[in-house]
Amino acid sequence: MSNLTRSPAWQALSSHHDDIRKQSMREMFGADTGRFDKFSLRFDGLLFDYSKNLITEKTLALLTDLAQQSKLQEWIERQFSGEKINTSEARAVLHTALRSPRDRTVNIDGKNIIPDVHRVLDHMRRYTEAVRSGAVRGHTGKQIRHIVNIGIGGSALGPLMVCEALKPYGSPDLSAHFVSNVDASDIAETLKKLDPETALFIISSKTFTTQETLANARTARAWLVEHIGSEEAVAKHFAAVSTNLVETSKFGINPENVFEFWDWVGGRYSLWSAIGLPIALYIGMENFERLLAGAHAMDEHFRTAPLKKNMPVILGMLGIWYGNFFGTGSYAILPYDQYMHRFPAYLQQLEMESNGKRVDRAGDEVDYDTHFTVWGEPGTNGQHSFYQLIHQGTRMVPTDFLAPLTSHNPIGEHHTMLLSNCFAQTEALMLGKTETEARAELVAQGLTGEALEALLPYKVFPGNRPSNTLLFEKLDPHTLGMLVALYEQKIFVQSVVWNINAFDQWGVEFGKQLANKLLPELRSKETVTAHDSSTNNLINLYRNLSKT
Ligand code: F6P
Repeated sequence: MSNLTRSPAWQALSSHHDDIRKQSMREMFGADTGRFDKFSLRFDGLLFDYSKNLITEKTLALLTDLAQQSKLQEWIERQFSGEKINTSEARAVLHTALRSPRDRTVNIDGKNIIPDVHRVLDHMRRYTEAVRSGAVRGHTGKQIRHIVNIGIGGSALGPLMVCEALKPYGSPDLSAHFVSNVDASDIAETLKKLDPETALFIISSKTFTTQETLANARTARAWLVEHIGSEEAVAKHFAAVSTNLVETSKFGINPENVFEFWDWVGGRYSLWSAIGLPIALYIGMENFERLLAGAHAMDEHFRTAPLKKNMPVILGMLGIWYGNFFGTGSYAILPYDQYMHRFPAYLQQLEMESNGKRVDRAGDEVDYDTHFTVWGEPGTNGQHSFYQLIHQGTRMVPTDFLAPLTSHNPIGEHHTMLLSNCFAQTEALMLGKTETEARAELVAQGLTGEALEALLPYKVFPGNRPSNTLLFEKLDPHTLGMLVALYEQKIFVQSVVWNINAFDQWGVEFGKQLANKLLPELRSKETVTAHDSSTNNLINLYRNLSKT
C-alpha cells in the first residue's frame, strides 16, 4: 500500500465510507431542512449547490483533512508563485499569470513575467481591433470575415469551446472556424465555406511541430496562394501563435502577426494566452479581458477561501470521494445551456490529459485510481440519450449540472422548461422511486395482478445518485472564465491529493512515435512484415488498396 492509502486521513475516509454507503440522501434531506444552506457556496454570482451528495458534515471534515494532509495550501502557493511544479519538464505552471492584473509580480528564475504577459495582450488588442475595424485587410483589400484557427488539442479545444459558449458576444461580421483533424475532410469542409480574400488563418501550436497542425497549415497556405494567385498573400492572411518563433518564421509568417506564449503555459491551460487570439478576434478584446477577469476572480477565491468554503477544493474532493471510495469510474458534465455544447469535450482534455496518470511524483506506480472518464452532453439532449444509465444503471455516475438562470434567447416558456428539467433530474437522481411508490403509480394507472408485478421492477429507481448544481445569472465572459478556472483548479486539487504531476503528458508521445514510423511503411512498395500480424495486415491492406 502507498503512503497515501496507508495515511490516517485516507483510512478515516475509508471507514467513514462504510457508514455512509448505507445512508440515503432522501433521509439526510428529510432529517435536515437546512441541508442546502449547509452544503452550498456562493461566490461572485455563482451558486455551487453540493447538497445532493452522499456526504455529512463529518464527510466534509474528513475530506478537508485529506486535503490538509496532502499539504494543499502549500501546493496552491507553489503553483501561483512560479515554482517549477511541472517537475518532469522542469517548468513552472502559470496559466494563472496570464489572467493576472498588470500590477502583479510573478517571478520565474528571478524575472517578473507579468510585463511580457501584458505586452502580448497589448499586441493582441492592437491586432484584433485593427482586423475588426477593417484597418487591417486581406491581400486584395477586402475586410476579414472568416477567422480560421488551425490547431489541435489545447490549441483548439479551448478557443472553440469559448467561441461557441460566447456566441452571443461574437461579431455578426465574423465567423469562427476550427480545423484540427489531419483527416483532410476537416479542412476540406471548412475551406468550402471560405472566401479566400476574406479569410484569416491562425496557426496555433505551442511547439509548432504538431503533425496535424502543420499538414493543415500547409494545405491552407497552398489553397490561399492558388486562389489569390500570389505568395505575397500569405503575409496578410496568416498569423501564428506559438512558443517556437524559429519555426513560425520558417513557415513565412509575417513577424507582426506572430503572437508568442511561453513554456510555463500548458497546452490545455493555454486559452488565456495568445492561443485565445481567435476568441479575442471573434468576441472582441474587451470581452476576452472579461473572460480573463472571471478566471482571475476564481483564482483569488481559490487562493484565499478556507478549504471548507473553497469551490475548487470541495468540487475536487467530492470527485475523490466518489472515485476513490465509491469506485465510480467516470463522471458526467451536463450543461443545461446549448451554447456550452463543447464544454464536456473541452474538459475531457483538461481533466484526462492532466490526471490520467499511473506514476506519482516520486516515479512510483500508484495503487489507487487517479482521474475518471469525463463525458457529457448538454441538457436536455442527454436526457434522451444516456440518462437511462445514470438513473438505473448498475454503476453510480456522479454528475455536474450547470445552468444559467437567464437565457440569451428568452423565447416563450423554453428556459423555464429547460430549468424544470435540470432541477427535476437532480431531484430524481437523489430521491429515486421506491417499489411502494412505483406500485402505487401503477395501481393509479389501472394496472393489476401479473401485468403490474411484471412491470414493477423496471419502474423502481435506486436514487441516492449524487449531483452538483452550478447555477449562474447568465453565460457571459466573466462567468465562463470563472467556470473554466473552477475546473482547472479542481483538477489541480485532485492531482495534489493523488501526488501526481497534472502538467506533463508523456502518454501522448508513444502513439505519435509509432505513427511517424508507420507513415513511410504505408507508402512503401514492399510488403510490410515488421510488425505483429494485425498491424502488418492493416498496413498491407491499405498499401494494396492505394496501389489500385
Ligand atoms: O495531445 C498532445 C498535445 O501535446 C497537447 O498537450 C497539446 O495541447 C496538443 O498536443 C497540441 O500541441 P501544440 O499546441 O504544440 O501543437
